Amino acid sequence: MIPQETIEQIREAADIVQVIGEFLRLKKRGRNYLALCPFHTEKTPSFNVSPDKQIFHCFGCGKGGNLFTFLMEHEKMSFVEAVQFLAKKTNITIKEDNQSDYKKDLIDKLNFANLTALEYFQKVLHTKKYTTILEKYLKTTRNINSEAIEHFKLGLAGEEWDGLINYAKKKDISSDILDKAGLVLFSDKTKKHFDRFRQRLMIPIMNLSGRPIAFGGRTLKKGEPAKYMNSPETTLYSKSNVLYGLNLAKDDIRDSNAVYIVEGYFDVISLWQIGIKNVVASSGTAFTSQQARLLARFAETAYLLFDSDSAGRAAALRSVDSLYDAGLEVKIIQPIAGEDPDTIAKKYGKDKIEQMMQEAIGFIQFRVVDIDIEKSGIIGKEKLIKEFVSIGMKINDPTRRSLFFADAAERLNTSPQIFLQSVSKKESDQEVVSHRQKRHSKIEISLLSLLFSNPNNIESIFERISTDDFDSKQLSRLYSAIIQLYKTNGKIDARQMIDNTTDLEFISLITEVANQEWKPDQIDDEISNFVTLFIAEKRKRQIQKLHIELAQAESEGNQQRADIILDEIKSLSKNA
Ligand code: GTP
Ligand code: MN
Repeated sequence: MIPQETIEQIREAADIVQVIGEFLRLKKRGRNYLALCPFHTEKTPSFNVSPDKQIFHCFGCGKGGNLFTFLMEHEKMSFVEAVQFLAKKTNITIKEDNQSDYKKDLIDKLNFANLTALEYFQKVLHTKKYTTILEKYLKTTRNINSEAIEHFKLGLAGEEWDGLINYAKKKDISSDILDKAGLVLFSDKTKKHFDRFRQRLMIPIMNLSGRPIAFGGRTLKKGEPAKYMNSPETTLYSKSNVLYGLNLAKDDIRDSNAVYIVEGYFDVISLWQIGIKNVVASSGTAFTSQQARLLARFAETAYLLFDSDSAGRAAALRSVDSLYDAGLEVKIIQPIAGEDPDTIAKKYGKDKIEQMMQEAIGFIQFRVVDIDIEKSGIIGKEKLIKEFVSIGMKINDPTRRSLFFADAAERLNTSPQIFLQSVSKKESDQEVVSHRQKRHSKIEISLLSLLFSNPNNIESIFERISTDDFDSKQLSRLYSAIIQLYKTNGKIDARQMIDNTTDLEFISLITEVANQEWKPDQIDDEISNFVTLFIAEKRKRQIQKLHIELAQAESEGNQQRADIILDEIKSLSKNA
């Protein structure tokens, strides 16, 4: 347990600009700093860091937080790790209250459980009892060498029902924690936990900093219906955010500016073994946009290397959307019939795969490869045009997008104009939608953002404006958090407010509002200005509502009620 006052001390001492500056290229803009957002793909910087408030906010994707949040999200640290990391930077020593309490944080416990499981599975694989599995199955049949076994930290779940449970017990890890880590299951019959993985080859799935967060277990039994059993979603593991192998491949992906995407764990391992190291696996699921954005941080081009069967082809077609959307260029490697990357690697070797990569085709060519365009008729063509428009729109880069549509037009034997017209129509429709969704009143936001500058007359504002006066529910919630914080703290510190909540959307709102900058000598004037505007806006809303009620009363012929409403409207308008 790190004492609260040490955390406070570290919070005060650490500088957000300096620390984030180690991860991103920050440019000074006014009082704040700007960078390309690491949480979404963008071409112009909208990631904003405020040295005054010690918070960050991206106006593009809405992500925001303080320095702790940044390290937790960007570097995938637990809160305790983030504190320890900053303690080192600020030369503050952490005197822990109680050593044994150290793993109090659930995340730390889960991390420790996974590490222990990894250690256990590795040990089991190398016991005498299972020599045949290691030597015969893994090394001989599957042709995986010792170096790869070590590199990917492969392991084995044996026959016992409680092998892991007992091993973990010796390290003070409870079954409850193993359960939360997805490593055990509960039997209603015996009322006891038992190992989730049994008689399976264990493939650990790591997060970006190389810590195990989940496992894939391949069956060793012939005829077992589920070839793979994977960890469930846990606090640490969200399937849609993780790509198998990325932790090991990220440097090679960055260096080559390209990534191979394959389907299976064993495809990754085999390719690594023949020296192709910039590879990740989608693990047989549809590629999510988070996974695509993760890749876009390291490379510009994605090469899809999927199995030659129809499932592989379908998976490739499903993946392109999110890859284009993340800003990646997509190339598809044409498979060899009957083979998957694992077998190609073993039978044909590195040169063959690199040659296949050179010959990779674009998405459009891949899509129409088995279609006879001239025979597909107007309806068939129209369907393809719509499909290409919706994918091409995801391409942000204007040159690349034009090339994509030029290619599409040529293959479909139509004019590129058709594509461009559909795109501009669709885009203007979307703008209308996003305009309609414009969320909060500017006046309400400005007033709240002024409160983050700790004006002199803050208490008088609390008296004049109540939480019910806000149009937006979220802003009303923010206002009440401001009042709370002031009551306990005597001042408004966005950093601290962020630490009081785990609701990411609320954090994003806090940073969005707090990030608005005001000139210090104008704050008091601006406040009285915005209080007036705020009250006027509220009154206008009330009048609008009364007009609706009035129309309602009149249509029902309720003259008495109509008169009352009319009086209310008059009195409100007079005060306006
Ligand atoms: P081998 O057949 O041993 O070569 O394994 P592989 O890793 O090459 O698997 P395969 O190409 O058959 O499947 C691709 C990926 O889909 C696997 O790596 C798994 O992530 C996933 N997968 C395959 N079968 C199953 C299954 O039965 N259940 C689950 N949850 N995932 C599976
Ligand atoms: Mn395979």
